[in-house]
Amino acid sequence: MDQKNLVIIGSGNLAHALAIRWLRSERISRLSVLARSQKFLSQGWNEALRRRVTYDPAILGGAHLVVLAVKPKDAMAALHQVAHHAPNSAVILSVVAGISVAKIRSMLPTMGIVRTMPNICSEVGRSVTGYSLDGIADTDRDHALLLLSELGDAIETPEAWLDPMTALFGSGPAYVLEFIGSIVNTAVNLGLDRDVARQLALRMVVGTGELALTESGHTLGDIQQRVVSPGGTTEAMLRVLHTQRWPEIMESALHAAGHRAQELGRETAGSIHPA
Ligand SMILES: NC(=O)c1ccc[n+]([C@@H]2O[C@H](COP(=O)([O-])OP(=O)(O)OC[C@H]3O[C@@H](n4cnc5c(N)ncnc54)[C@H](OP(=O)(O)O)[C@@H]3O)[C@@H](O)[C@H]2O)c1
Repeated sequence: MDQKNLVIIGSGNLAHALAIRWLRSERISRLSVLARSQKFLSQGWNEALRRRVTYDPAILGGAHLVVLAVKPKDAMAALHQVAHHAPNSAVILSVVAGISVAKIRSMLPTMGIVRTMPNICSEVGRSVTGYSLDGIADTDRDHALLLLSELGDAIETPEAWLDPMTALFGSGPAYVLEFIGSIVNTAVNLGLDRDVARQLALRMVVGTGELALTESGHTLGDIQQRVVSPGGTTEAMLRVLHTQRWPEIMESALHAAGHRAQELGRETAGSIHPA
C-alpha cells in the first residue's frame, strides 16, 4: 500500500475520473482533492469521494505528489498555490493541455515534474497516457509511474509529442463517441431499439480494437479489407465516406484540436508570476 500523500487540484471531469480510479486501486490510500467550488461536486461525486474534498490549500503542505487537473486558464494560479504551500520535495504531475514543462518549471524551480496527457478512460483503467519527465529523482519517478499505470497504458514521449497527443488521445474519446453516436442514431432511424443499438455499437468498436491489437503484424488496411466484399455493403459504405472526404474531415478536426492545445499554452504565457 502506497503511504504517500496525493493531492489532486481540481474537482472537474478529469479529476473525478482520476480520483475514482486511484481510490479503487488497493495500492493508493492517501488521496485528497483540493476543490475551488462545489460546482462539479453535485454532479456525480459520491459520498466516499466527497469526504476527500477540501477547500483549504494548506492541504498541499503535506503532499508528496500534487496532480494539477485544472483548465489551462487556471493553471498558473494553481501553480502559484503549489509554490506557496507544497514542500520543495513534492512532485507535480500535470494533466493540463498546452502548459509546457518550462512554464511549470518557471513556477516550481526545484520540484520533480511529470507532464502527462491521459484521457477520461482513466476511470476504467483504459487510458492511453503520454508523459514527459523533468528533474525527478528515481524513487519519485517510480511512484509517479505507478500512479499512471493504474490509469492504463503509459508511454514516455518527447515533450513535443504531448500537444499532438492531446488532440489525438486526450480529446480522442470525444470523437470516438461522436462516431458511435452517428451509428446509434442511424440504427434508430432504421428501426432498431436505441439501447440495443448503443450496446452493439460500443461492443463493435471494442471488438474491432481488440482484433486489430491482436493482429499487430497486419496493417489496418489489411484487416479492413477482410470486411470488404466486392460489390457488397461495406464497399458501398466506404465509397460514401471517401467521396464525402471523411479522411480529410478527420484530419482537419484533429489538426484543430492540436492547434488549440498550442494556443492554450500561449494564452497562459503572460500570467507567470514565480513565487
Ligand atoms: N476532460 C478530459 O477528458 C481531459 C483529458 C485530458 C486532459 N485534460 C486536462 O485536464 C484539465 C482539467 O480538465 P477538465 O475537463 O477536468 O476541466 P473541468 O471539468 O472544467 O475541471 C476543472 C476543475 O478545476 C477547478 N479549479 C480551477 N482552479 C482551481 C484551483 N485553484 N483550486 C482548486 N480547483 C480549481 C475547477 O473548479 P470549479 O469547479 O470551481 O470550476 C474545476 O473543478 C484541463 O487542463 C484539460 O486540458 C482533460
